[in-house]
Amino acid sequence: MEIYDLSDYKLKEQPVILALESSCDDTACAVVKGRKILADEVMSSAALMEKYGGVVPEIASRAHTDAVDEVTRRALNAANITAGDVDAVAATYGAGLLGSLLVGLSFAKALAYSLNVPFLAVNHIMGHVSSAYLEDPDLKPPFVTLLASGGHTAILHSTETGGLEVLAATSDDAVGEAFDKCARVLGLSYPGGPNVQRLAEGGRPVINFPSAEVRDKTKIRFSYSGLKTSVINYCHNAGQRGEEINGADVAASFTKAAIDPLVKRTVRYALDLGVGTVTCGGGVAANGYLRSEMKKACDAHGLKLILPEKKHCTDNAAMIAAEGYNMYVRREFSPMSQNAEAQIPLEGRGVC
Ligand code: KG4
Ligand code: ZN
Repeated sequence: MEIYDLSDYKLKEQPVILALESSCDDTACAVVKGRKILADEVMSSAALMEKYGGVVPEIASRAHTDAVDEVTRRALNAANITAGDVDAVAATYGAGLLGSLLVGLSFAKALAYSLNVPFLAVNHIMGHVSSAYLEDPDLKPPFVTLLASGGHTAILHSTETGGLEVLAATSDDAVGEAFDKCARVLGLSYPGGPNVQRLAEGGRPVINFPSAEVRDKTKIRFSYSGLKTSVINYCHNAGQRGEEINGADVAASFTKAAIDPLVKRTVRYALDLGVGTVTCGGGVAANGYLRSEMKKACDAHGLKLILPEKKHCTDNAAMIAAEGYNMYVRREFSPMSQNAEAQIPLEGRGVC
């Protein structure tokens, strides 16, 4: 008999799933029972990274190694269960920093192996898409998702038949990356997105930065490198002329140029496809301007909007558990040979 053998495994109605997320600088562990969150813990190394102005992969992976045991213990305690109560273990296998991913992935595989329960290797992007289930446990495809994170920018269609269609995506930088670059040029500390938001709240969008939308003959796509360069040039040119820039106006103008096309296109795709539900995911979906503009646009067109809580937009383990649950009910168990992957192409169901 195999030591790790799930051939006779019977699916549970309301499985207890423990999930780990370690793709970047946060070590997170969540426990869900079916769609219900029992624990949602995170140990962040952001303060450590602030010193370096960004994530240093080697330091991040060491921080995960220090935190993974403790964060799991905290999650089990918060859920008031022991490891023996866990019915499946999920972990992010990609996309992300390899050294970071390997810590959570290896820990989860070892735990699943020792408990002889299913192991669920979750695609980080599918986790962001599935964060909507945390907000609305009754959500069913079809829906259109605006995915806006530090690594990805795309409009995705989760089809009625369980497929994932990429409707539009960025051809260069991700929108979160652009927020972080804009923060840097404005002298704001890491992580940039929330700081740009704070500054933008006191500003007016009076500067005409280029829109992030590019319309090719056949396809809509986004580009953030031009917008980023334009913000950098604006600030440098003003500096060379000895003029003081109004940082709040730069932040507000950048935010508008970065977000408006994403909101407009997401709503347009939902209407054109006849899909009545829009969801958002990824760190930039925590942005106050994006949230209020998306709400206005969905209300104006009679679309149902599912906005996950801000803490479930930025990286978290509850979204990995939510996608792990989707895999569990489909009996999509992962092999122990599953390795970490830095990048996963953004096409096909369950693949990004
Ligand atoms: O989804 P996430 O936590 O990690 C990735 O998978 O990339 O997204 C991180 C990104 C960062 O670029 C961060 O600056 C941005 O999300 N972000 C925000 C806000 N909160 C986080 N951007 C704009 N406004 C925010 N409030
Ligand atoms: Zn993420």
